[in-house]
Amino acid sequence: MELVSTPFAGLQTRFGASGRVYRAPGRVNLIGEHTDYNDGYVLPAAINLACGVAIAARNDRILHIQSANMPGDVHVHLDRLPAVRTGHWSDYVIGIASALEQAGFKLPGASLYIQSEVPLGSGLSSSAALETSVAYALLDAAGYPIDLRKLALLCQRVENEYVGARCGIMDPFIACHGKGGHALLLDCRSLDFRLLRVPPQARLVICNTMVKHELASSQYNLRRAECEEAVRLLATKLPCVRSLRDVSKRDLEDQRSLLTATLYKRACHVVEENDRVLGAESALKAGNLTGFGELMAQSHLSLKDNYEVSCRELDLMVEIANRTRGVYGARMTGGGFGGCTVNLVRAETAADFAHQVGEAYYGATGRHPDVYICEIAEGVGPVS
Ligand code: GLA
Repeated sequence: MELVSTPFAGLQTRFGASGRVYRAPGRVNLIGEHTDYNDGYVLPAAINLACGVAIAARNDRILHIQSANMPGDVHVHLDRLPAVRTGHWSDYVIGIASALEQAGFKLPGASLYIQSEVPLGSGLSSSAALETSVAYALLDAAGYPIDLRKLALLCQRVENEYVGARCGIMDPFIACHGKGGHALLLDCRSLDFRLLRVPPQARLVICNTMVKHELASSQYNLRRAECEEAVRLLATKLPCVRSLRDVSKRDLEDQRSLLTATLYKRACHVVEENDRVLGAESALKAGNLTGFGELMAQSHLSLKDNYEVSCRELDLMVEIANRTRGVYGARMTGGGFGGCTVNLVRAETAADFAHQVGEAYYGATGRHPDVYICEIAEGVGPVS
């Protein structure tokens, strides 16, 4: 399916002339998986599947929250925002409003109507798209200037502390800073970033396995804890090590005896994946798409064997892609245990590739995958 993002027509008319509309994109990560919370490097791109929000000011201090995708109308008073999550989808919106108020932004009451094209729970970062679009809308509609770096950090904090998911900075950062036609290399420690043009002879094709295994979030938290434990043990001999970002392959081999077999494998993935991201940057700059694709293949193998966050369906989708004409590289993307693969594909073969991979996956599993041929989109902002 060729993606054409809808201009959120329903949102434009929702509140008549007094309404404004904003959008924030979902994302796909090209390489650099499970490195963000290790202070490492990631290389995501914003995609043309977005979350849109229409907003209109009110004369009171009420937030009225509605969604085209989710049931339940919510009214909350800005002076009495619930301090803890309720488990309802509106937690994301309330968490953002609450964090903004705590950061000193006095928000007026507003009606919000949300409509998202980013599939939920498929690893394309629907929650960061929701959070960043809402945060941007609340601030801009209230006339505040917006600092995108701070906005990304605030959204991550809401996800960590209010929603209760311990994810890294990658998703809100790319939702804020994405640039059409470009991938973004982010140093997750300094938050310095570089935009890298993706050449027009390549397309990103996202293949959704249509599965999400139960253990995704518990295993995510476990991997984080394993990385922290590896750092603690390595730091007993290497005092400069604050995170796996500070460990070279050489250090890791020298100090291997400090780690259990499992912790060694986890650390290996992170250390090598950081190197792969920097290698991928060089390959992209040199127009070496084949080299970039090889790094994607290595990344997938490492996520499967060392980090152990892949699953049968993701491996199958990657295997199918690897034998389909026009592919430079294929790998799982996002947290793992289901969700999507990302494929770098020769532009002129993208439609055939999407069709053939879809058919083969259906043939093998009986599931129809959603396959998206993406455009690389802009980060959060108003919809003109
Ligand atoms: C999820 C998290 C990200 C990142 C990826 C794995 O998508 O939200 O912060 O850790 O997993 O790379």
